[in-house]
Amino acid sequence: MLAMFKQLFARKPINMILEEMNGEHRLKRVLGPVSLTALGIGCIIGTGIFVLTGVAAHDKAGPALMLSYLVSGVACIFAALCYAEFASMVPVAGSAFTYAYATLGELFAWIIGWDLVLEYAVASASVAHGWSHYFQDFIGIFGINLPQIFQNAPFNFDPTTGLLAASGTFCDLSAMIITALITVILVLGIKESARFNAVMVVIKLAVVLFVIFVGAFYVNTANWHPFAPFGFSGISIFGHTILGQSGANGQPLGMMAGAAMIFFAYIGFDSVSTQAEEAKNPQRDVPIALITSLLICSVLYIAVTAVLTGMVPYGKLSIDAPVSDAFRQVGLPWAQFLISLGALAGITSVLLVLMLSLPRVTLAMARDRLLPPSFFGAIHKRFGTPWKTSILTGFFVAALSGFIPLRILAELVNIGTLMAFVIVCAAVLVMRKTNPDAKRPFRVPLVPLLPILGIVFCLLLMFSLPVENWLRLFVWLAIGLVIYFGYSRKRSVMHLHLKNIKPSEFVPPPCEK
Ligand code: ALA
Repeated sequence: MLAMFKQLFARKPINMILEEMNGEHRLKRVLGPVSLTALGIGCIIGTGIFVLTGVAAHDKAGPALMLSYLVSGVACIFAALCYAEFASMVPVAGSAFTYAYATLGELFAWIIGWDLVLEYAVASASVAHGWSHYFQDFIGIFGINLPQIFQNAPFNFDPTTGLLAASGTFCDLSAMIITALITVILVLGIKESARFNAVMVVIKLAVVLFVIFVGAFYVNTANWHPFAPFGFSGISIFGHTILGQSGANGQPLGMMAGAAMIFFAYIGFDSVSTQAEEAKNPQRDVPIALITSLLICSVLYIAVTAVLTGMVPYGKLSIDAPVSDAFRQVGLPWAQFLISLGALAGITSVLLVLMLSLPRVTLAMARDRLLPPSFFGAIHKRFGTPWKTSILTGFFVAALSGFIPLRILAELVNIGTLMAFVIVCAAVLVMRKTNPDAKRPFRVPLVPLLPILGIVFCLLLMFSLPVENWLRLFVWLAIGLVIYFGYSRKRSVMHLHLKNIKPSEFVPPPCEK
């Protein structure tokens, strides 16, 4: 029993992590600071700003959604600083999973790794759905429509009744096809993926700037009044609103509730840290890329929201395609074509980076033998990519996005990511105590204040989410714990380490032909 507890909280020594980095079977170091920042932006700007802004302003926050973006952005900046400190100390694939292993022990590392699998898989599926809707919108401009059975998931969730209803379709075919195409690109290699991503990022930035600068001419400041029609709060605890208004079905309303919803728009910056192992100079470039990409996106999001809520009264924003529809409403229908194209490019690059990140987390878990290394640790000899898990990810994401409705998927993502952020912020505090002298090329300023603020902001956002998300998160974590205690605990590298079995007696992870 004592031995088990010892293992559950056994921390992986930083030296061990850094030594492992010098071993074989590593990913290629090909990414510089600009590619990394582009990967960050590539993963941040997508479905959130192009789709969720409409529903969040319309239902939850009104023009105060600008502040919601600010609050969420600030929470992410605190978390990003903590990620940056870790990424500079331990620049290996695996991100928060590796950081938690080094600071909080194996059990927390497993929980966070399992949580990240959920985050990336479900976020990818939500984003593939968003892509499909813009794609169908785009081909609709030319009068082309997919057969109805291929337009959407076979059922949908009605938040007002809380019931599932058949949607009269069979699957979201275009979401499945884009997932398959991205999988092929990812198996072929990271450098090729980074180039593809850079092109997509340029297109989407051009469109976002177009929205801000052209849209600004159509802003009517009267539309910003009332500024916060649902108030400035909106915080609930397990389904009971404790601050602010609540909606018809008991969900919190207000600026904070809006912030919890559009938090999705920031998800992805953390994936830069999962690419640390492929960075040429990770100690310097990963912190730069994390913070730069986040700052750029925060400013753009606040500006886009200000313009949209100024162009159209918040109650008239479209729920499905708010950005292009706002331009249609002010009499610029031609802009719809341009914006749909930009949204498609934007969402494609988000999908690429999210699907790139998941296999890298499972790779790190497999290296520690928490997952079977023969499958999850396999790196393709020629392409240098974790190809087996990339393909598995492709199947998983395609199935989720094809058959599960967007609303159910999107809700799950935010809470899982916020939990990972809370753990990473806490881990910085723990690490400063346990390893005060470790080399930290990047240090979070004002410790412990900033990590504590990060924890508080993220918890507030978690409590501003509808209660079902907590239940789904607990179910996912319970499944994870069954796998950990049933499989991983007895096979992990840490377990062998504690039993004094020498590393030479481990079977090295296979390198695929
Ligand atoms: N931040 C990403 C998006 O908005 C997930 O699509």
